[in-house]
Amino acid sequence: MPTTDEIREALRAVIDPELRRDIVELDMVRSITPHASGVVDVTVSLTTPGCPIRSHFQDGVAQAVRRLDGVTGVNVDFDVLTDTQKGALQKKLGRNGLPEGALAQVANVVCVGSGKGGVGKSTVTANLAAALHAEGKQVGVLDADVWGYSQPRMLGLGAERPKVNGQRKIIPLEAHGGIKVMSIGFFLEEDAAVVWRGPMLHKALTQFLEDVEWGELDYLLVDLPPGTGDVSMTLAQLLPQASFLIVTTPQAVAQKVARRSAEMAHKVKLDIAGVVENMSGFVTPSGERFPIFGEGGGQLLADELDVPLLGKVPLTMPLREQADSGLPLVLSDPDDPAAQAIRQTARGLIALSPVELPVMQAPSPAAAPQPVGMSLPMA
Ligand SMILES: Nc1ncnc2c1ncn2[C@@H]1O[C@H](COP(=O)(O)OP(=O)(O)OP(=O)(O)O)[C@@H](O)[C@H]1O
Ligand SMILES: [Mg+2]
Repeated sequence: MPTTDEIREALRAVIDPELRRDIVELDMVRSITPHASGVVDVTVSLTTPGCPIRSHFQDGVAQAVRRLDGVTGVNVDFDVLTDTQKGALQKKLGRNGLPEGALAQVANVVCVGSGKGGVGKSTVTANLAAALHAEGKQVGVLDADVWGYSQPRMLGLGAERPKVNGQRKIIPLEAHGGIKVMSIGFFLEEDAAVVWRGPMLHKALTQFLEDVEWGELDYLLVDLPPGTGDVSMTLAQLLPQASFLIVTTPQAVAQKVARRSAEMAHKVKLDIAGVVENMSGFVTPSGERFPIFGEGGGQLLADELDVPLLGKVPLTMPLREQADSGLPLVLSDPDDPAAQAIRQTARGLIALSPVELPVMQAPSPAAAPQPVGMSLPMA
């Protein structure tokens, strides 16, 4: 007969399809009892009593154990994780702010922020998403600027409203061949103002992370509003695993403001992935460069924070025009100097990213999508 330890090792073959880790690592194997008759009893703790993937575990455990020499039968039993055990599991998954399972298939969350407004966070986010997608990555964009959302326009979406699937999850809209996008703008009448603060805001952002079917993503880019206010704090709390990409302009004043957002990131313990200097000189169509906003601010900030300067994106008219028209410049003219800089930033980000998801198919929702409104608190 195999020993309890040998059986436990064999159970590493059973993967939780939602959390994408094996049940031993997840501490979900409650007990293993081998009997002299060759029968083995295994109890597995599930996260919820009505776990829809219970039969997946039933079959997986039976198969994994039966494969061992001397085993003649397997009894699989289930119980439910206690709240303390669930807490430990969440901690292990590093997603303290969200319920287990939410964003489990997202490998990297990158918040794009800056201290001050109008430095090009949204433009960089939209183009970076397109550049990462062009590099073969699965990408999502969460427009966390609930007051001044711009991703619908920059990614050419908005006429359509997101639908809800059979599991009551909101399906993000898809832009340009599969970039998943979620924005409050999809749910509002044009130009309607949003006046949420505090708990309302927290609820809306939580919903965007929890109730949206992001699925399997290599990158979820989060376009932050300007400043270091409520939204950034809330997101940092909900997404302890996120990293921060700081957009700044080359002049010293902007750099000082950007430093404030870096301090905020430090305070909430988010890693800073790097700096992108935007509006880094004006490049004429003939290639001549004028340093309109000065020089060197991005590099200075990067040195100060001891993180890489991932790109210097020049001011070019097509970058603005394409953002306005909904087709990112990276896609319409990848050779434009600004597009090249953002593509370089994307490659830098890929080189820095620690997590690659294992290739594995999660169970797909069976029911067809149906149009449903969102229960977000509307102002
Ligand atoms: N490198 C660039 N070249 C030309 N235009 C640019 C560049 N970067 C940004 N812009 C333009 O500047 C304006 C502001 O950019 P954007 O909306 O991306 O900034 P933001 O930091 O997201 O602003 P906010 O703080 O309001 O969210 C937009 O019209 C955008 O098209
Ligand atoms: Mg913006």
